[in-house]
Amino acid sequence: LAESSKEKINQMTSEKAVEELRIQLLGKKGQLTELLKMMKDLDKKERPIIGKLANEIRDDLSTRISDKKEELAHLALEEKLREETIDVTLPGRKFKRGQTHLIHQIMEEMEDLFLGMGYNIVGGTEIVSDYLNFERVNVPQDHPARDMQDSFYINDHYLLRTQTSAVQPLVIEAHDFSKGPLKVISPGKVYRRDSDDATHSHQFHQIEGIVVDENITMSDLMGTLEVMSKKIFGPDREVRFRPSYFPFTEPSVEVDVSCFKCGGAGCNVCKQSGWIEVLGAGMIHPNVLEMSHVDSKKYSGFAFGVGPDRMAMLKYGVDDIRHFYLNDQRFLSQFRAKG
Ligand code: PHE
Repeated sequence: LAESSKEKINQMTSEKAVEELRIQLLGKKGQLTELLKMMKDLDKKERPIIGKLANEIRDDLSTRISDKKEELAHLALEEKLREETIDVTLPGRKFKRGQTHLIHQIMEEMEDLFLGMGYNIVGGTEIVSDYLNFERVNVPQDHPARDMQDSFYINDHYLLRTQTSAVQPLVIEAHDFSKGPLKVISPGKVYRRDSDDATHSHQFHQIEGIVVDENITMSDLMGTLEVMSKKIFGPDREVRFRPSYFPFTEPSVEVDVSCFKCGGAGCNVCKQSGWIEVLGAGMIHPNVLEMSHVDSKKYSGFAFGVGPDRMAMLKYGVDDIRHFYLNDQRFLSQFRAKG
């Protein structure tokens, strides 16, 4: 038993097997333990001799077992260390660098431009009351113009704003005209219950512009918008004003920007017409000023709402607005901001 056990121990390669063998031999019911128990049946003369031998064997095996265990544990540790060694000479993994989303680049470009012209930037909430989004901008409850902007209502009184024009009443109301003219832009997200297609998205962006002071005229508006489109699209693009209708401006215009000649960027966006509409604007309706406690006989103003999504499409020849919202890096990473 001693010899065969020694042999076994030598050949063992796992700690678990060694432990099993220990139990088998030296455990309470182990083979060697059983042998030792049988000692009491031995002859008195033989007992000390055999007992001594048996004890020696037991001690020897148990030392061998614990030595073997230690050896195996050591090997296992070394193996683990070897496996987990960090190869410091390996080149590091590159982190993918993100970039400002194209729409935000355009919005930032617009913010820079208007800050430079002395405007302030204000924010607004995306959940607004029906009252702010519609009534205070001259769209009463049963006004047919509500059909122009199908809305996501949250309950009877609140909705996701359909236009950044919803900031107009608050901004106009809060302004202290004794401190100078009101010049503000307000960029943000807006929502409409449209079916998504190449040119419509149920969520998109707008930048509202609001200017109110004494003697503000339509030509101030036109000049401002022309400067804006030349800045964003470059001097080669034409700007076209078309008479239009919005309940909160009178007169109202829509502004189109010319596409490059077909074959260039933007051609596929414009289809046949050669123009794409990028904003609505007009002279703020006296009702809107009055509802915001501003004397419409003394003050006048203009407002515009531009769509940076449309601008991005036109500027870069993107033919489907949905590209902006699919988070496909292959698309987005093409528009890495400079600097
Ligand atoms: N709010 C209008 C829209 O979303 C755009 C607009 C803003 C028109 C300001 C006139 C003045 O269609």
